[in-house]
Amino acid sequence: MRSPKDFFAPLALGAPEPPRQIPFRPSRMIHFFDPGNEKMAAKVPDLAKKTDVLLGNLEDAVRADRKEAARAGLVSIAKATDFGRTQLWTRVNSLDSPWVLDDLVTLVTEIGDKLDVIMVPKVEGAQDIHYVDRLLAQLEARAGLTKPLLVHAILETASGVANVEEIAGASPRMQGISLGPADLAASRRMKTTRVGGGHPGYLVRTDPVGEDLTEGRTTYQQDLWHYTVARMVDACAMHGILPYYGPFGDIRDVVACEDQFRNAFLLGCVGAWSLHPVQIDIAKRVFSPSPSDVAWARRVIAEMGDGTGAVMIDGKMQDDASVKQCRVVAELADELAADDPELAAAYDAATKESQS
Ligand code: GLV
Ligand code: MG
Repeated sequence: MRSPKDFFAPLALGAPEPPRQIPFRPSRMIHFFDPGNEKMAAKVPDLAKKTDVLLGNLEDAVRADRKEAARAGLVSIAKATDFGRTQLWTRVNSLDSPWVLDDLVTLVTEIGDKLDVIMVPKVEGAQDIHYVDRLLAQLEARAGLTKPLLVHAILETASGVANVEEIAGASPRMQGISLGPADLAASRRMKTTRVGGGHPGYLVRTDPVGEDLTEGRTTYQQDLWHYTVARMVDACAMHGILPYYGPFGDIRDVVACEDQFRNAFLLGCVGAWSLHPVQIDIAKRVFSPSPSDVAWARRVIAEMGDGTGAVMIDGKMQDDASVKQCRVVAELADELAADDPELAAAYDAATKESQS
């Protein structure tokens, strides 16, 4: 067992101190690009102007014979691009693959100062994070980095879900966790071939009326991912890190994508992956609280004074607990608005209107 006193000591001589808190930075969409694809790489400077996070993907969706080109592409893009306030993340190959060691050695030593977060796929338990944690410390020391790299795990194996709480707390570097519905479905032997989203076959049905088993029975589709997302949110909240919905593979179906993202937002997620530019605006809209919710939250906070006791506002009871709910919304709004003047103006206009 590691002593709590050592938890925040660097894991290699000369490595930076691990972080004590995960700072909030907007990450409503983690936009994936293939750094080995020259056409996509050329779009990176423009994409950096409209995304919270850009992620150079080295894992699945990059062909085996393009892995090295993708890694080299990410190094040159990172060196050549000014990302402004946008974070640069990468998804490295899985820990059992022949590429991951070179991914980590090359990226940390060449562009460790440009990278914010390293996403690790197919995490099975705390042991995977411990391995990455120590290796990153050694590489940070070698590269002379002063800011520690953060680690993000994808929840996409049955064993990862069973161990999600220990994964979330495995290292002070843990920044967050994303649901990986495609690999997770395969790992669990779920019988869906969709990448995220619902399934019309997953439903409940009202009781039969009389003898007829078919007519007049309403069905309600259920969310295949509810259990996993909810569990992931609890594990992340418990350890002060951030939960994310992952990919929604049906790019054409922007309506269902928005629904799935919104479910995740309402359950506590702070963002989702975007696999195509069309999903960037969806994530931005969904993972920013609505101006009317922000106006309401600010009003409750103002009327609750010191935050104790109870008041009635528009016929709705407010007390110590509901003011905390409102603070979650209002604080997120302030954090996002600090980086986005348009959003700040929309929140202020709605707040003014609700006071008039
Ligand atoms: C993402 O990596 C997934 O497997 O869904
Ligand atoms: Mg996956």
